[in-house]
Amino acid sequence: MTNTPVNPINQATNEYYLTRQNEMESNVRSYPRKLPLAIAKAQGCWVTDVEGNEYLDCLAGAGTLALGHNHPDVIKAIQDVLASGLPLHTLDLTTPLKDAFTEELLSFFPKGEYRLQFCGPSGADGTEAAIKLAKTYTGRGNVISFSGGYHGMTHGSLSMTGNLNAKNAVQNLMAGVQFMPYPHEYRCPLGIGGEAGVDALTYYFENFIEDVESGVVKPAAVILEAIQGEGGVVTAPVKWLQKIREVTKKHGIVLILDEVQAGFCRSGKMFAFEHAGIEPDVVVMSKAVGGSLPLAVLAIKKEFDAWQPAGHTGTFRGNQLAMATGYASLKVMKEQNLAQNAQQRGDFLQAELKKLAQQFGCIGNVRGKGLMIGIEIVDERQPQDRIGAYPADGVLAAEIQKACFKHKLLLERGGRGGNVVRILCPLIITQSECEEMIKRFTQAVQDALKATRS
Ligand SMILES: Cc1ncc(COP(=O)(O)O)c(C=O)c1O
Repeated sequence: MTNTPVNPINQATNEYYLTRQNEMESNVRSYPRKLPLAIAKAQGCWVTDVEGNEYLDCLAGAGTLALGHNHPDVIKAIQDVLASGLPLHTLDLTTPLKDAFTEELLSFFPKGEYRLQFCGPSGADGTEAAIKLAKTYTGRGNVISFSGGYHGMTHGSLSMTGNLNAKNAVQNLMAGVQFMPYPHEYRCPLGIGGEAGVDALTYYFENFIEDVESGVVKPAAVILEAIQGEGGVVTAPVKWLQKIREVTKKHGIVLILDEVQAGFCRSGKMFAFEHAGIEPDVVVMSKAVGGSLPLAVLAIKKEFDAWQPAGHTGTFRGNQLAMATGYASLKVMKEQNLAQNAQQRGDFLQAELKKLAQQFGCIGNVRGKGLMIGIEIVDERQPQDRIGAYPADGVLAAEIQKACFKHKLLLERGGRGGNVVRILCPLIITQSECEEMIKRFTQAVQDALKATRS
């Protein structure tokens, strides 16, 4: 029998593995360029590299690891499946485990109103399926998406994503995607800001859909994140989101909420759209729903379930291990009230970061909900724009990320020009780990400022 090549610590350096990765893997690698380590093991909020260094992980698999690394309940779920003799792969055939997971996941939605669709395992698979469903249901072909939105990197999902860097390289993306401005508390796209900016954008959306001279034919769907993650942690204002729900309902447009990143207690509620008290027609779930393993699921309001049998298939829709770990994670989220933990820890972190913003002018804005926090890095030596925002400083933000890494704190950036440092830590993070994070982050900002501005 072959031994699996898991690596003991201190046999080779990070550099050794990174050089080999560089030689063997495509240029498309992204995270290793910013977080240059080779991981040997991980537990909870902590990751250990092959040299024995320990890092506080505030990236957590891009928000996937709600329960942190190797949570005992998740590990037990995997062991239970392995001991049971269940097949690991079942297409979309059912099993007692799938049945229980489906029931558990549906329990987070209004009783009897939604059905689930298991997709291919990535978030992009989920958004692709949701758009196809909306087109099938309405017979229409256009989609409205929002600036700053992120829905994945496949052709269709990239078409609905805001980031032009990724889009410019690939021609002939999905046609028929109309972008509209998304409210932003620090960088209002209308240059108005505050409540007046939100009111104007709310009015604009309704007017745009109802204006018979808008030039845009009625779309099949509106797709959005209630809190944009990759776009720089931007929260949809409640009244704007409620208006979008009202208008899409009135005009028979399918409203798709992409909860791939913000879902599953991260924002302080099970789903981020709950902050606005709305009910979407389709909810896209991935990342945390699989409890560390790949899984994507749509929740579809029953009346929108327009699929013909096999209208959308995919080989990997039956990952039993992911359903087991997802089931265990959902139970822990409920039993340990992780939504509340995310809210409380997030409030603490935001309060501390806002204090830091008083000390460091380069922190232009601290925002987010629960454990989805954005720290916008700016050049405060430059003039403010018409609504008081300083220009983005992506170079300093990158230096802060680098300094965080030196202080053994893993985190990622997002937003325009990568100038928003993001906190996406596991939801089980403790108060003392939060305090440690703030300590390391403060040192990193000091170091980065010294490196770039002195
Ligand atoms: C909101 C949102 N939607 C979709 C995706 C795409 O998910 P995946 O990378 O699993 O395809 C992401 C990934 O970060 C995301 O944040």
